[in-house]
This record gives sequence, C-alpha cells and structure tokens, in this order.
Amino acid sequence: PIYALILAGGSGQRFWPLSRDKSPKQLLCLFDDKTLLEHTIDRLEGLVPKENILILTNHQQLDGVRSVLKDFPVENIIAEPDKRDTGPAIALAVGWVAARDPSATMMVLPSDHIIKDREAFQNTLRTACTAAQESQALVTIGIKPTWPCPSYGYIERGDPYTAAAPDGNPVFEVLRFREKPSADLAERFLEQGGFTWNAGMFFWSVEAVRNNLATLCPELATFVDTLAGSSDFGATVQTEFPNLPKLSIDYALMEKAPRVLNVEASFDWDDVGNWTSVGAYLFRDGYGNQQNCEVSHLDSGHNLIFSNSKQHVAMLGVEHLMVITTPDAILIAHRSEAEKIKKLVETLPDSL
Ligand code: GDD
Ligand code: MG
Repeated sequence: PIYALILAGGSGQRFWPLSRDKSPKQLLCLFDDKTLLEHTIDRLEGLVPKENILILTNHQQLDGVRSVLKDFPVENIIAEPDKRDTGPAIALAVGWVAARDPSATMMVLPSDHIIKDREAFQNTLRTACTAAQESQALVTIGIKPTWPCPSYGYIERGDPYTAAAPDGNPVFEVLRFREKPSADLAERFLEQGGFTWNAGMFFWSVEAVRNNLATLCPELATFVDTLAGSSDFGATVQTEFPNLPKLSIDYALMEKAPRVLNVEASFDWDDVGNWTSVGAYLFRDGYGNQQNCEVSHLDSGHNLIFSNSKQHVAMLGVEHLMVITTPDAILIAHRSEAEKIKKLVETLPDSL
C-alpha cells in the first residue's frame, strides 16, 4: 500500500494580515472557497485512500486544521509538540507508517502549493512511486526552472533512469541536490543547464528512507525506530520530538543521500510564495489592478487588492500598491516589497 504525508505546519508570515500563527498559508482560501490544504487532499482522490493519509501540523494550528477538515479521520491528524521543521516532522510520519507496515511506500507532500492539472499530477506521482519501489532510491519531482529563485532546492540531473514504467514521466539519476543556493549560484546553475527545481515532494520505501537516515541523520533514525516499536505512539512523540534537531529534510537528508532520482513533472506548479504571486491568479481589470473584491478607483492602476472582509476599497491616484484588508488589520505596501512582509510582521504586537 501507499501512504501519503501532508506537511501542514509551516508558518507563512508573508501572507500577513490574512495569515496569522494560527492560520498560515495552507489554511487560507486564496482563490476560491477551499483552503490550499483541502485542495491538496482533493488532489489525492483515487490515488491514496484517506485512511492512508497522515496530516502533520503543530499544536497552534491543530484547531484550525480540524475545523477545515471536518470529514477527515481525526486520528490521522497529528500535532507536533514543537516547531522542528520538516526533518523531524517527516521522521515522525515515517515512524507512523513503519508501525503500520514496514514494507510500505510513502510520499511526502507540501500543503501550500497551487497545482491545477490533477490528472497529470497523479500520473507523475504514480511514476515516482513506481521508481521508488523499483530502485530503493529517494525520489524527487523536478520542475522546469524559469528564473534563478534562491528559495528553492536545485537538482542536477544525470543519466536517464530506464527501469520505471515505460509510459510514465521521464526519470533521471541525480548528480546533486543543492538546497536554497545563493542567487549567484542559482544563476550559474541555470546558465549551466540540466537543473530543475525541487517540488518539495518526496517518494521512498519506508525501508530505503530508514536506511538513509541511519547513516546520514542517526538522531532521526533512532526516533523512527523508537516510534515504530512504541506501544504508546502519542506519548513517545511528546517526550522525544522536542529533543530533535531543527532541520529541514532537504538539509538533513536530501543533500547528502547517495542515490536520488528525479521525475519530470508534467503538471503546472506554483509555490505561491507571497502576495505578488497570488495577484497573478486574481481578476485583472483594464488598468492592471488585480483584485478579488469590489473596487472603485480613479486614476489608479497596477494595484493588488485582496479583501476577505466586507469593506469596499476605493483608490484615487495610486499605483503599484497592495492593499490587503481583514476585519482587524489592513496592509498597505508597495508591490515590490512583498518579500519584506516577514520583517514587518516581526514589528507587530503579539495579538496580530
Ligand atoms: N508539519 C510540519 N512541521 N510542516 C512543516 C513544518 C513543520 O515544522 N515546516 C514546514 N512545514 C510544511 C510547510 O507548510 C510546507 O507545506 C512544507 O512543509 C515545506 O516547507 P517550507 O517551509 O514551505 O519549505 P520551502 O518552501 O522553504 O522549501 C521546500 O520546498 C521548496 C518548493 O516549494 C524545499 O523542499 C525546497 O527544496 C523546495 O524547492
Ligand atoms: Mg514552501
């Protein structure tokens, strides 16, 4: 059987004032009436049964996740007792799956991306699972890079891997995996060619990931072993998890793993990292204003207006602004400053 882990514990401060500690990016309805987390689960329909899906979040966000996922089995939603990044979170999930079926294959998926073509997505995932089962390697998904973005992982492809399903997506051996390179290095990668962005999704057999962890990250491997043999899973998580190192899986495992494969994605993919990327999906009027609500304006263009409150927004003589309104806070910023919202959030009172 195949198990899926959905990582839903990230913070997403770049979407303030819509996102808060309790309602990060994956719990926002950015484009319709469903959260990105719900869309992530919907995309697995027909591929992984719900009882084989584990959702990991943290204690601050647990109520929010539960209230959004009313029809989802509650025992498959687990809150981490502490924020430790994706390495420990994924180890927890490996332990959860290993306790059920040590010979299973699992996939790890982020909860905060936009992917529209469900069929192509599922086909790519099928190829990735087949490749993981056949090769016992750690399998990644490659997205064609469009600019030297420093906030992604970069994967350098080697020879084609030929054993995976012949009618599936192309699969390659990986020469190296480099997490979040500097902008300069990212630029060199693109000039050189042969690199793809890491989609942040991983596929492996439980056995393969445990073997890799044992040599590359023994603390996480010990945690997995303890969980797999524990008679009280919840209690073991509470006592052991907070002692684990704070590390993302990209640094803890993927950069160092001896054998990694890369499957070419055939689906559309957007990590929607900030408000500017959201703007691209909104209605755009004849003046270049992107909006999700009613707006009146005069001599105003190229603004981004997003409101989840009932306020009407009116603009006069302004350009290149973003105006984000919520019932208790409003953000007015220059559009080019979207990446700096994280810094602004640090200056806010705790109540926001
Ligand atoms: N449960 C849990 N616990 N989930 C977490 C935690 C945690 O402590 N930290 C982050 N997440 C979730 C996020 O909500 C997101 O869905 C996913 O894990 C990835 O975390 P990010 O923090 O968004 O990672 P990133 O975007 O910086 O980098 C990763 O994704 C890129 C593609 O979007 C890396 O894998 C990169 O290599 C990759 O290119
Ligand atoms: Mg991300």
